[in-house]
Amino acid sequence: MPNNSESESIKAYDFPERVASYDADMDLMHPNRSKMVEIALEVFPFDPETSFTALDLGVGTGFFSHAVLRRFPNCRVIAVDGASSMVEMAKVRLGAQLNRVDFRVGEFRLLKRLLPAGDKGELVYSSYALHHLTAEEKLGVTRDALNFLKPEGWFLNADLIVAADQHMKARIQKIRVEGIVRRAAGRDSRFTDTASTRRFLDDLEAREQDKPLTLSEDLQILREAGLENASAFWVEYREAVTGGFK
Ligand SMILES: C[S@@+](CC[C@H](N)C(=O)[O-])C[C@H]1O[C@@H](n2cnc3c(N)ncnc32)[C@H](O)[C@@H]1O
Repeated sequence: MPNNSESESIKAYDFPERVASYDADMDLMHPNRSKMVEIALEVFPFDPETSFTALDLGVGTGFFSHAVLRRFPNCRVIAVDGASSMVEMAKVRLGAQLNRVDFRVGEFRLLKRLLPAGDKGELVYSSYALHHLTAEEKLGVTRDALNFLKPEGWFLNADLIVAADQHMKARIQKIRVEGIVRRAAGRDSRFTDTASTRRFLDDLEAREQDKPLTLSEDLQILREAGLENASAFWVEYREAVTGGFK
């Protein structure tokens, strides 16, 4: 069972203020989110009419699942998240597609319990969620996710990474902070200048227990979990789309 501190990444999302501002904040802080989902959908080689089962690890407010359900009108999604407030928002976003979504509220680390043996599928995807896990936890969750996949099924992850070199890390953080200030354009008191933005981000990341790994560590975890063809499909600064097929 996860201990309390390990569950902080769920608690950080599971309150109304965070959920209400979540999507607007994602647009400001992660303007690549749509692009990354687009890349993942482009890599996934299934015909749009195919009927299949997918698993969303960390559905949040349903951003990625919404795109998957729209692109593949005959797929069904098992949507996992630990924060029930986020799941309530996902239900609103997925309104017309809800009959194809099976929500399971719970810990990634207890994925095996959330996915009984009979649950199998062709696709596992995740966005901005797995960096909340330690390397060891990520390996365990990836293994469980690959057990869910049928042969030739795909695992696709759009997530945060971190530079291995401290100087490069600092350079990328500077670019990140300046980008947020520019996009906020003086309309958000949290992001009026680089100092206030840095303070906000440090606080947020401590609360959410972010633990991004380097791209090579992430690819190594995918390989160790069983994806021999693990690849990076897209990378920009501190974000990457990675994955492979069984
Ligand atoms: C940054 S949000 C990403 C949501 C969505 N995929 C997106 O792209 O907007 C991360 C989500 O992962 C969930 N989460 C974080 N750690 C978790 C864990 N250990 N088990 C289950 N869910 C977790 C949070 O509740 C949150 O909804």
